[in-house]
Amino acid sequence: MEQTEQKKVIFSGIQPSGELTLGNYLGALKNWVKLQDQYDCYYCIVDMHAITVKQEPKDLRRRTLEVLSIYIAAGIDPEKNTLFIQSHVPAHAEAAWLLNCNTYMGELSRMTQFKDKSQRYGNNISAGLFNYPVLMVADILLYQADLVPVGVDQKQHLELTRDVAERFNNTYSETFKIPEPYIPEAGAKIMDLQEPTKKMSKSSDNPNSYILIMDPPEVIRKKVSRAVTDSLGVVKYNDEQPGVKNLMTILSVIKGKTIQEIEKEYEGQGYAQFKKDVAEAIVGELEPIQKKVKDLVANKEYLESIYKKGAEKASYVANKTLRKMQKKIGFIPVSR
Ligand code: TRP
Repeated sequence: MEQTEQKKVIFSGIQPSGELTLGNYLGALKNWVKLQDQYDCYYCIVDMHAITVKQEPKDLRRRTLEVLSIYIAAGIDPEKNTLFIQSHVPAHAEAAWLLNCNTYMGELSRMTQFKDKSQRYGNNISAGLFNYPVLMVADILLYQADLVPVGVDQKQHLELTRDVAERFNNTYSETFKIPEPYIPEAGAKIMDLQEPTKKMSKSSDNPNSYILIMDPPEVIRKKVSRAVTDSLGVVKYNDEQPGVKNLMTILSVIKGKTIQEIEKEYEGQGYAQFKKDVAEAIVGELEPIQKKVKDLVANKEYLESIYKKGAEKASYVANKTLRKMQKKIGFIPVSR
């Protein structure tokens, strides 16, 4: 009985363009683990997206395998899910070209992430950075994904995906499933420790702004103790205390406690014990993952067996969709 055929399809990916943060872990990976039994999940390491801005080849190589190791160490089972590296499935690049020819310059010019990034990178804006959302459209549509778990910052790209898919379907007849965004419940968005109104990001210039999944315990403790709070001195969840709110979120997600429980626990106390507890919760959560990552990264053969198998499975599905696209567009099929 092919049970997987009835499961809804999930696709998501992370760029190996920097070290992964606690935000990636709590906002994405921890949720992905919960989805693996219920859905047919494709979790990709999007190395082709990463090169839209300059990457040092040896760092890209190391990080790609590290991200794969982090997926597995975080509990994403490579037997239940399809874990693969984007560049191993050439259908992504081919489909992206076909979809580029069905996307308007105007649509891409409106992407806020492009506007932000192109400001940051000044004169070195590659055509790839502009076209990047179309590659993401290809990623998603090739697998006929039903749901795409993403942070709010990617929602606009998902709307583009839906628009392009609908346009293609209307022009060439029904080809793609129209995917839905799957934004995790409120609480999973982890903010910058120094500027808690901004999302925690590995691209921040100040390392105290973020916690890396691979940060050693003493670094985590130091960063949490330096996290910006306020002068009110009460552990309460509200928008006037964004720093405290963020630390409460972190504690709540890791410990599985409600915000009310946390407020109660720290009633009448300042921030000292609270911050200590937050730091220990993070250390307790990440330390076992770090150990596993270190073991996995050292086991190149095992990793290779995972990404090889992943690429095979992914290619089978992706190529099927790609052939369909090519045929509808009017390309001459050739048997292979
Ligand atoms: N653009 C996404 C990000 O930067 C990563 C990504 C690439 C992705 N392709 C995807 C996410 C497909 C979800 C689905 O976060």
